[in-house]
Amino acid sequence: MEEKNNTLYIDGVSTVYLAEKYGTPLYVYSVTDIKNRIAELKEDFLNKYENTTVSYASKAFLTKAMAKLIAEEGINLDVVSGGELFIALSANFPAEKIEFNGNNKLYDEIDLAVKNSVGKIIIDGASELDMIIDCAKKYNKKVNVLYRVTPGIDAHTHEYISTGKADSKFGFPLDEVLEEVKKAKNSEYINFLGYHFHLGSQLFENDIYLNALDIVFELIEDTINKTGENIKELNIGGGFGITYTSEKRQPFSYFLEPVMEKIEGYFSLKNLERPTITIEPGRSIVGEAGYTLYTVGSIKDIEGIRKYVAIDGGMTDNIRPALYSAEYRAIVANNIKGDPLETVTICGKCCESGDIIIKDAQIPLTQPGDIICIPSTGAYGYSMASNYNCLLKPAIVFVENGEDKLVLKRETYNDLIRNETE
Ligand code: LLP
Repeated sequence: MEEKNNTLYIDGVSTVYLAEKYGTPLYVYSVTDIKNRIAELKEDFLNKYENTTVSYASKAFLTKAMAKLIAEEGINLDVVSGGELFIALSANFPAEKIEFNGNNKLYDEIDLAVKNSVGKIIIDGASELDMIIDCAKKYNKKVNVLYRVTPGIDAHTHEYISTGKADSKFGFPLDEVLEEVKKAKNSEYINFLGYHFHLGSQLFENDIYLNALDIVFELIEDTINKTGENIKELNIGGGFGITYTSEKRQPFSYFLEPVMEKIEGYFSLKNLERPTITIEPGRSIVGEAGYTLYTVGSIKDIEGIRKYVAIDGGMTDNIRPALYSAEYRAIVANNIKGDPLETVTICGKCCESGDIIIKDAQIPLTQPGDIICIPSTGAYGYSMASNYNCLLKPAIVFVENGEDKLVLKRETYNDLIRNETE
């Protein structure tokens, strides 16, 4: 983002122009930023180490346009539901580059995945293998699988986004997974590739990945001893943290260099071929590339207590503050350099006192009609949006080098009743 004539520009396009053209609230994505992140991953990982894969975790943000962009960039796509899979397939995303993750996969979802020959299924629970075999028989396919394990690591992030602890709904306990793997290896319809773990999200320390590796190496050793075979792939999940307010984003290399050094060291020490190493970043690819634009409506100044600045969206387009006490920063997009600054509470228009986007935002004196931009909303904003209070989901615009393109229309009132039958 950049400033021109006291106005905020994103990827060469004026936010005031975007707000006028498309209305607000509006999600805006800088395509250049997304491409730059992927280029960084190529430099720090894909091109630096052989036999590595990046699978974009599409739960962070997915539309057909995004799937097409990921396809053009040549990396894989991670989906966690029939819905995400459907969007990817609708965008003609190459099925062999799709990885199907997620707990409690349903029969119909597995059926859709196997029928379309997705690249891999990451088995997350005991009920999945039989369903996969059943579908594989039906379509006469052999399915590549990994097993997700919980290494028992506490990721020190918000409880709701910590996923690698022993007490987790995700994955297999380490002492149970080998029995499952043996079952998979017994089936002619299954090609067992290896293991997957994901420790949590919005992480800033590399040591937990290294600690998890120690634990998973033991599992790999056990697997070789008991099945006679090395694994072919190890997926270490995503979770690399980004900047919302004052967090210091680490470059990908901060995580991946020590991780790769440890992995290469281990496999060469054991004289074993190193498996393919896959990572699954979501937030770190799209989070900082996405911005939300809002228009200021009513302002309520409770003297000596608080000044509420209400915007035309809120927890419906960004649930993260209400759900995780997530923090954001704000910019008055039509008056970036305005002076003096004041401390205000930026609230949404939902009937919830917790519908607060920023509790204490430092912004220039603002008035109704101003455009407020909240940066770093590209991940888990649109993907977790709702229609609470029957608010309409915003439009999405992609901008790149001064050009803007609508990729998703704003919902209309008719969308709210389109599935009603009476
Ligand atoms: N792989 C698996 C298996 C995952 O469960 C996740 C995220 C990722 C990859 C991608 O993680 P990332 O690189 O985006 O951190 N809604 C929450 C985040 C939930 C993350 C769930 N799993 C939020 O808004 O913070």
